[in-house]
Amino acid sequence: MGLDLEAIRSDFPILSRTMDGGRPLVYLDNAATTQKPKQVIEAMNSYYENSNSNVHRAVHTLAGEATEGYETARTEIAAFFGSPRDHLIFTSGTTEAINLVAYGWARANLSKGDVIVTTEMEHHADIVPWQILSKERGIEIRYIPLERDTLTLDMEAFEIAVTEASLVCVVHTSNVLGVRNDVERIIELSKSTGNDGEGAFVMIDAAQAAPHERINFVELGCDFLALSSHKMGGPTGIGALLVKPEIMASMDPFISGGDMIETVTLEGSTFQKGPQKFEAGTPRIAEAFGWHAAINWLSLLDMKEVHEHVSNLAKHTAAEMSKIPGIKIYGRHDLDTCSGVVSFLHEKIHAEDLAHLLDSGGFAVRTGHHCAQPLMEALGVASTARISFWLYNTQAEAESFIEYLTDIVERFS
Ligand code: ALA
Repeated sequence: MGLDLEAIRSDFPILSRTMDGGRPLVYLDNAATTQKPKQVIEAMNSYYENSNSNVHRAVHTLAGEATEGYETARTEIAAFFGSPRDHLIFTSGTTEAINLVAYGWARANLSKGDVIVTTEMEHHADIVPWQILSKERGIEIRYIPLERDTLTLDMEAFEIAVTEASLVCVVHTSNVLGVRNDVERIIELSKSTGNDGEGAFVMIDAAQAAPHERINFVELGCDFLALSSHKMGGPTGIGALLVKPEIMASMDPFISGGDMIETVTLEGSTFQKGPQKFEAGTPRIAEAFGWHAAINWLSLLDMKEVHEHVSNLAKHTAAEMSKIPGIKIYGRHDLDTCSGVVSFLHEKIHAEDLAHLLDSGGFAVRTGHHCAQPLMEALGVASTARISFWLYNTQAEAESFIEYLTDIVERFS
C-alpha cells in the first residue's frame, strides 16, 4: 500500500517551515537527528503541564503519575525492541550506552590478554571508549577493515579476528556509507567461533538502524544493543542499552548516587538490582514520555515500508547525483539493505561551501567527518557532505535536491 506521506508529514510541525528566501525546508540531516512528530512534543508538554514530578521517591499523585509514565515507557520501548522491561537501562543516548558497556561491563570482565574486535566503519562512540580501556587495562583492539572496492566489511578478516575476540563491537548500519552490516552473521560467528570457540560477547550500535528497521534484541542474540531516541522521532537526551539480565548482573555501576542504591552507610553502600542500578540521579523523565510517544507513533507504520521508502529515495538520489559532473558518491546504494544516507563530494567545490549553498535553497545537509575519522581515512578524504532521508521525505524533495545541486555545480565549477 505504501506510506501515506501527506498524513505522516502533517504530524511534523517543522516540515511546514519556510526558510529565508521563501523556499520550503527540505530536511536532509536525519542521520544526525530526526524531526519530532507533534505527538512527541505534546506528550512532553503534557508531562510538564500536568504531571511534572520526580520518580521513585514520593507518594503524592504527581510522583505516582511520573513514575508510572517513566516505567511504562521502559516496558513499551523494551517491547518495541522485542525485550522484557528488565533488559532496558535508560541512558543519555547511544554514546552513553556504549560507555556503559565499556565502564560497567568490560572494565569488570576484561583484562590484559583479552581482545576487542571492532571495525574501521565505527562512529567515534564505538572507538574511543575501547581505546581508553585498552590504555588502562592492556586490552588489545583489532579493527576489521573495509573492502576498498565494495565498501563493505572484510568478512574474511572478521572470521579470522573473531576467533580471538572476547568482545565484538560493530555498528549495525553506517552513518556515512548507508551500508547495513550483516549483523546476524557477525553475531552467529562471534557466538560459535569467538574466543577460541567459547563464544565472544557482542555489542551492536543500532543508532542508525532503529529508525529504518524493526530490531528484535532477543531474536538477534547479541549481548548489548545501544540505541538513541532522537534518531527515531523521539527527543534528544535519552537512549538505552539493552542487556541480558544475567550479563547485567555482572556489571558494575558506571555512574553512582541517588536512586541506584539500596542502602548507604558511612561504611559502604549496596545497590539496586536490574536497570535501576545504572540510572543514578534524577532520570530523563520527560524524555522517556517523549520517546514512548515516538514508539507509539512508529508502531502505527509498517517498518518494512519505511525501509523500502527511505532506501528507494537514497538509491534513486545517489544514482542521479552520480551523473552530475564532478560529484563522487561514497557508499553503496545498489543494495536493498541500504539506508537513507548518501555521502558525497564535488571535485572542485568544498563540502562546506556546498552545504552553505544548499542551505540557501532550504536544504539542510551535514558536512564534516561525521564522527568517523578512521572511516574518512579509509576513504582517503578529510570529510564529506551528507544527505540522509527519513520516512517523511518525498520523491519531490529528492528531485528538487538533485535539480538544485546540479544548478550549483553548473554555476560554481
Ligand atoms: N552520528 C551522528 C551523525 O552521523 C551525530 O550525524
